[in-house]
Amino acid sequence: MLADRRILLIIGGGIAAYKSLDLIRRLRERGAAVTPVLTRAGGEFVTPLSVAALAGAKCHRDLFDLTDETEMGHIELSRAADLVVVAPATADLMAKMAAGLATDLASTLLMATDKRVLIAPAMNLRMWLHPATQRNVATLRGDGILFAGPGEGEMACGEFGPGRMAEPLEIVAAIEAAFGGGPLAGRHVVVTSGPTHEPIDPVRYIANRSSGAQGAALARGLRDLGAWVTFVTGPAAVPPPAGVEVVRVETADEMLRAVRAALPADALVCAAAVADWRVAKAGTAKIKKDRKGAVPALDLVENPDILAQVAQMAEGRPALVVGFAAETDDVVAHAEAKRRRKGCDWIVANDVRPATGIMGGSENAVTLITAEGREDWPRLSKDEVGRRLARRIAEALGAAG
Ligand code: C5P
Repeated sequence: MLADRRILLIIGGGIAAYKSLDLIRRLRERGAAVTPVLTRAGGEFVTPLSVAALAGAKCHRDLFDLTDETEMGHIELSRAADLVVVAPATADLMAKMAAGLATDLASTLLMATDKRVLIAPAMNLRMWLHPATQRNVATLRGDGILFAGPGEGEMACGEFGPGRMAEPLEIVAAIEAAFGGGPLAGRHVVVTSGPTHEPIDPVRYIANRSSGAQGAALARGLRDLGAWVTFVTGPAAVPPPAGVEVVRVETADEMLRAVRAALPADALVCAAAVADWRVAKAGTAKIKKDRKGAVPALDLVENPDILAQVAQMAEGRPALVVGFAAETDDVVAHAEAKRRRKGCDWIVANDVRPATGIMGGSENAVTLITAEGREDWPRLSKDEVGRRLARRIAEALGAAG
């Protein structure tokens, strides 16, 4: 899928730069041509020689390299590529990009390019979570910059959390999706995932046990078929996949707004476990324990049904609307009734009785219910369920091939 694609790879200064060597190898294996640019800080972690040797191309380093300016200036370098990839993208590089600085070769290329830019952030988790970085992330997303990761995990500095560079193969998948070569190329799919948190007061909330694993697996499957995926996620236990547009929400109301804002789409898949009720009037201050032992009464109101609302839209309804039904009894009968009631096209039904280990586990056994009938799938990993469902969605949208 990447044959003859030209990728300008900017390697920033971070310990994750060593993974970029593997990234070059993986890209070239797939037929891509890689033009590497190594920042000054990047050169502290990997050598220009190893970068050039793996890329089979000159490793560019300086803005004021006269030979390059006569042969191929920075403007041409930034435009000769089909895609610009920054891996690792450090907090510093991202800040430069967000501010529009052009102080070295890498930042100048990023300012001068007319191509899409995909970045794979990598930094210490405090730096990632720092408000300045988060502001820059929002700015860059708004500018249309694509993101691969970061993931969560143990870091070279010994801390654990978000900020770890996506693995080379995940970056490759995000690059392939950016080129959109799969059967879902050019298609937009919105996926909701994870639980919602409905506040009781500023410190307490109503939640459920959804891990977000099935929604994340489905988003990966869709992404790998080339779809542009908007992933609207509540506070999930598993991190969102790389290479999708992530919109984080907390409540059902926020999720509905995010889904509406993400439309139009070719398909909507509601894999989120949305809380059915919220507290009518969430306290603005922490509810105090009554000394006499009286317990507060929580007045609940129904949350909007995102799936039903979009499925019943008079205008702009996605061609395919898919819901999930987590049931503990009479799974198929309840799910079929739900499909009709909500007006969606398909329901993916699963049995979430605790004994099945499905809720929060890594496997799922689903029944796909459509207008044509039911299909019982064997017990599979959630990843495989995600891949199969993505293929079915591609077929339904007439995009297979
Ligand atoms: O009615 P129930 O919650 O069982 O329906 C499950 C399906 O409806 C899931 O696809 C879920 O994502 C969706 N849903 C929703 N908004 C709600 C409740 C459920 O989108 N408020």
